[in-house]
Amino acid sequence: MISSRNKPLAAAAFVATTICGTINAFSTRCASSKYHHHISTTSTSLFSSTAQEQEQQLFYAAAGSPSVDMNKYNLPLPSCIENWTAVLQAETSMQSAGIFLKAKDSELFVDSLRFTIRRSGGLGLILTELAGGREDGVGITIIEEVVDGGNADGSGIQPGDSIVGLTVKKSISKGINVEEERVSVSTECLSYDATIEALMSLPEVVSDDDEVTLTVKRLRRQPKISVKLQYPPSDNLPDASIELFAGENLRRAMLTRGIKLNDKFAERFDSGGMGDCGADGTCATCVVSVGKGMDLLSPMKQQEEQILKTKPRWRMACKTVVGFGMTEGDLTIQLSPRQWEI
Ligand code: FES
Repeated sequence: MISSRNKPLAAAAFVATTICGTINAFSTRCASSKYHHHISTTSTSLFSSTAQEQEQQLFYAAAGSPSVDMNKYNLPLPSCIENWTAVLQAETSMQSAGIFLKAKDSELFVDSLRFTIRRSGGLGLILTELAGGREDGVGITIIEEVVDGGNADGSGIQPGDSIVGLTVKKSISKGINVEEERVSVSTECLSYDATIEALMSLPEVVSDDDEVTLTVKRLRRQPKISVKLQYPPSDNLPDASIELFAGENLRRAMLTRGIKLNDKFAERFDSGGMGDCGADGTCATCVVSVGKGMDLLSPMKQQEEQILKTKPRWRMACKTVVGFGMTEGDLTIQLSPRQWEI
């Protein structure tokens, strides 16, 4: 757990005046070993394989690459202040140990983004501390404001983002050759003072063209799909409404919410028998008819397309992901569509 030290408004204003000066001067101090500098001569990002980025990749893998501007899911600064927290993660085979930013609200997710901006003249970011006051420098520091006309202005960095890493290039003379190194520093879950210290530990600015790549974490709300479910008339059941998140499998989502899904009259395309195929896409007992919102669903693959070729509005729920491409909207579904045809 991290102790929380919310800065009062006056303190935030103080931060605003000091941070600009500090960031403007952040290249003047010598490197400290406290913030685990990483030096690389390759262009591979040093922040590409954290546990949370793996989580983010899995999230996007389920929902598909965004087909919409993800900024529509950004939160205003007060909501970010309310919802940032940190977790201590133990090492597993999938992830390294450490303290990472996390969303308090399970309907939000943490996105990871990179921006490259000019260094000379300062970053033009005003930071504020949400948690800190510990000896070890652990805390939460976020961007409170992007200064108009500053280097970060127009870059896409938003108030509420938290800087988790910075990478700069440094030229090293080796005899008659000049080699380029990338020097990175991690700033995830640091207090305000520790963040500034880490920023100042980076190599100094030597040219007006020097750039810094910032990796930031951003809280976003998960795209939601409002689903209206209609049971066949013979079931004599009222319509039901459920809310799903982008990336959810339609069959799994309905079954976990207690929706009666399997159509007893469905024509089976597997070897027959009782029950269903367990999401293999062969029994067709999970088929639904889609009214509104077909564009919110993942595209059909060949097998499903072949089986349902005469039914353009039907989908196998087990092979369907909702909110595909991180879309959101309304979906209307008729359950057990064969029973509607009787
Ligand atoms: S559960 Fe068998 S096709 Fe979906």
